[in-house]
Amino acid sequence: MQNNQLLEIAKEFGSPLYVYNAETISYQYKRLTSAFKGVKNLRINYAVKALSNVSVLKFMKKLGSNIDTVSIQEVQLGLKAGFEPEQIIFTPNGVSLQEIETVAKLGVQINIDNLSILEQFGTAYPKTPVCIRINPHVMAGGNTNISVGHIDSKFGISIHQIPHILRIVENTNMHINGIHMHTGSDILDIDVFLYASEILFETAKNFKTLEFIDFGSGFKVPYKQGDIETNIEELGVKLTKRFNAFCKAYGRELTLAFEPGKFLVSEAGQFLVHVNVIKQTTSTVFAQVDSGFNHLIRPMLYGAQHDIVNISNPNGRERFYSVVGYICETDTFANNRRISEINEGDILAFKNAGAYCYSMASNYNSRYRPAEVLWYKDKAHLIRKRETFDDIINNQIEIVLD
Ligand SMILES: Cc1ncc(COP(=O)(O)O)c(C=O)c1O
Repeated sequence: MQNNQLLEIAKEFGSPLYVYNAETISYQYKRLTSAFKGVKNLRINYAVKALSNVSVLKFMKKLGSNIDTVSIQEVQLGLKAGFEPEQIIFTPNGVSLQEIETVAKLGVQINIDNLSILEQFGTAYPKTPVCIRINPHVMAGGNTNISVGHIDSKFGISIHQIPHILRIVENTNMHINGIHMHTGSDILDIDVFLYASEILFETAKNFKTLEFIDFGSGFKVPYKQGDIETNIEELGVKLTKRFNAFCKAYGRELTLAFEPGKFLVSEAGQFLVHVNVIKQTTSTVFAQVDSGFNHLIRPMLYGAQHDIVNISNPNGRERFYSVVGYICETDTFANNRRISEINEGDILAFKNAGAYCYSMASNYNSRYRPAEVLWYKDKAHLIRKRETFDDIINNQIEIVLD
């Protein structure tokens, strides 16, 4: 999208504001599906947690995607967006048996990641098909908070516990139709991915009734200039070859599934903020914007470096700024970053703000969560209103204090 279009949108809907470009989502979706065009049955389960606005989900459905969900509320959002239950996979971690039962009764594919629930669920519902999330113990992913396949991770059932899984399956006579892994986000090296996939293939051989193998996600997207991204095209060629060979040996054409979040929506999003104050201290020039980690927590949580462009003055002389927010807590978005000269009143655009940005926003400091706009067919559509004071006070109960 052009800077002047973004400025128009900011003028119309105010700031702070999330803007998503449907065309970029579509481009990424097609990139992924064409990288795996050699696989007969490919299934993309968009990871709803990345960006869960219903209009975005509807757009995913239009593209042909299915969805991956991690809470019953995400399942409900998916159903609201028009997905059929069989187009949804539920991959929770540490949720109650009751929540899993409720979701299973809706007809959604269940993915179980611990032995306790596997045994309880298998005993109660032996006929319901279940996918098993394996932990391949591969150290992959960027920040430690998003590496989930290693030995100490709480996710998945360890590959060392395969004999125990098989005993449960045999004792309960349950139906295992899928096998799954997700080793973490921001995987740089496709060899790590391929290595983990080999472990998954080995594991899959133990199950005779599989319909699909889900390789999770973790594809890295470039956040700043010079960043590496997962070479999806190369991964497509290499994994397709391995997958097709596996299916031949297994004796059945299985479905290859992925559940990308970031890859599909990260680059589609821009976060627009207004510069309230330029504050020169002894050593730093701060650009203070009308936001904070209440709206975009990734820099503080993961050390993420989002590219920031001054769309009000894109060709100005470059100077060094620390871009910070307006909440009462350290909320640094960028430290001493070279940005085109910023004046109070300018609009800055944070790039790669589609994934894990709005979906992780909060009301900290009792601030409103921003509005969201979807740029679709050359038009800006408001897809979520900015919150108001009613949203802040709505669920609060005032008691009478004598
Ligand atoms: C189980 C599962 N699948 C898929 C994803 C999506 O990962 P990404 O956004 O890196 O594609 C996540 C993200 O944490 C996840 O936990």
